[in-house]
Amino acid sequence: MGLKFDFNNMYSFSVGSHGVSQEDIDEILPEARLCARHLKKIIADPQARVNLGLEWVTLFQQDKEEIAKIQKLGKEISGKYENVVFLGIGGSYLGLKAAQDALCVPYYNEFKPLRNKSPRIYLEGNNLDPDTLRVLLKNLLPKKTFVIVISKSGETTEPKAAFSLVEAWLKKGVGKRYGRQILAITDPRSGALRAKVELEQKKDILSFRAFPIVKGVGGRFSEFNMGLIHLAIVGVNIEELFSGVKEMFDRCSQDDILKNPAYMYALLHTILYRKKAKSLAILMPFSQTLKSTADWYVQLLAESLGKKYHRKIVVGSDGVENWLADEKSLFSKGRTPISAAGTNDLHSIQQNNVEGEDNKVLTFIRVEKFKTDLKIPGAGDLLSGKSFSSLMHLAQEATEWALVSESRPNCTIVMPEVSAHNWGALLFFFEMATAFEGELLNINAFDQPGVEGYKNYMYYKLGKPGIPAAVAEAIKNKPLIKDPKYIL
Ligand code: PA5
Repeated sequence: MGLKFDFNNMYSFSVGSHGVSQEDIDEILPEARLCARHLKKIIADPQARVNLGLEWVTLFQQDKEEIAKIQKLGKEISGKYENVVFLGIGGSYLGLKAAQDALCVPYYNEFKPLRNKSPRIYLEGNNLDPDTLRVLLKNLLPKKTFVIVISKSGETTEPKAAFSLVEAWLKKGVGKRYGRQILAITDPRSGALRAKVELEQKKDILSFRAFPIVKGVGGRFSEFNMGLIHLAIVGVNIEELFSGVKEMFDRCSQDDILKNPAYMYALLHTILYRKKAKSLAILMPFSQTLKSTADWYVQLLAESLGKKYHRKIVVGSDGVENWLADEKSLFSKGRTPISAAGTNDLHSIQQNNVEGEDNKVLTFIRVEKFKTDLKIPGAGDLLSGKSFSSLMHLAQEATEWALVSESRPNCTIVMPEVSAHNWGALLFFFEMATAFEGELLNINAFDQPGVEGYKNYMYYKLGKPGIPAAVAEAIKNKPLIKDPKYIL
């Protein structure tokens, strides 16, 4: 048995009037069934999946030959280089970081014997802070370093800026064949990065190798696409990962909502959001290695569900759906995600969880079996002879109890162990839950128009051509107020 979703503490029989009642479930079920039917129809339609950004549901069925190619290149990179620098941001970064921390040994970069001869991994291009990249490039040897730049659009400022610098550094240190130490993962046809690949390959066919981001797969849903080369380099078993995704896919294809774990997750959270004003979603794995998976989830939930408008469904003459933002129907909602980790944050955010504003639902991840265990030595002390894992389990149970005793709803995902199989299942569980919640909210969960605001402002100030006139006008006519009277 794989993951289990325990939602006892979401119900009123555990947390009183702050929880979900049977009447709440009965009330929402007819609407939820329509949503499930709609989602099922889209998932079954290849054209709709691509148009709407749901092609990620099929990634575990990717062509075996393509996977073999990725594995072959991963092995080659792993055998030849001491360091691999990944450049990417958002969905082109968070999945890698989550996988690195969950599926590789802790302190991976620090200790060579632990990483089994694989190269050190560095994740950059996810910020415009110059300090980290400067130190990295000063200390790595270009000839011993392979660079993987990931950008679906190929246009994003942060990885673009970092790549320009890293490319120049590689060119200087390696010479004219530097491009053979670069892999680009980007849109198969459009964007500046794709254009660069084509240009460089004309000069040297062995340079700037490239993998495509599958059409219809958005950044935050792309770990099982763009993340595979990272897994191949560090030696994670991709088949095992996909077996976990498939298992969860099957469980989440269950028509009966009450037996579908991802749909129940979305349903219960939607009830608590609508009826009990629980607008904060705190994901707290009781495992240090899953903290960055919680960070990955923050992007998934925030970009997918925090939307200004409802969705307007338009069906084309070919019968295929398109979703538009319905500017006549304001939504401006979406639960706010927060990532935390047990037990660290029991000494930080937990005070607020238990006694602060009563607007939260917590999700815990409980790992049943850790890769290793430690026993506390000595005798006579309360802790003597106890194992770390037993204390971790007790702390998780105690945290549930503390919340329930204050009538604060929470739920737990039980993970037998942090393996590639279970981690794949976990990510897919959250992806399906998010897609279903998007249906329940009637919004487009697969775009992120709100991210454009800061980009537009930067592009305007940088003088990029093609900024829509209305946007340029708005920036020009409404500058930020910086009155010194209000600055101390
Ligand atoms: O989910 C998304 O699509 C975004 O968050 C992107 O991942 C992020 O903006 C990075 O984009 P790109 O991969 O095009 O550089």
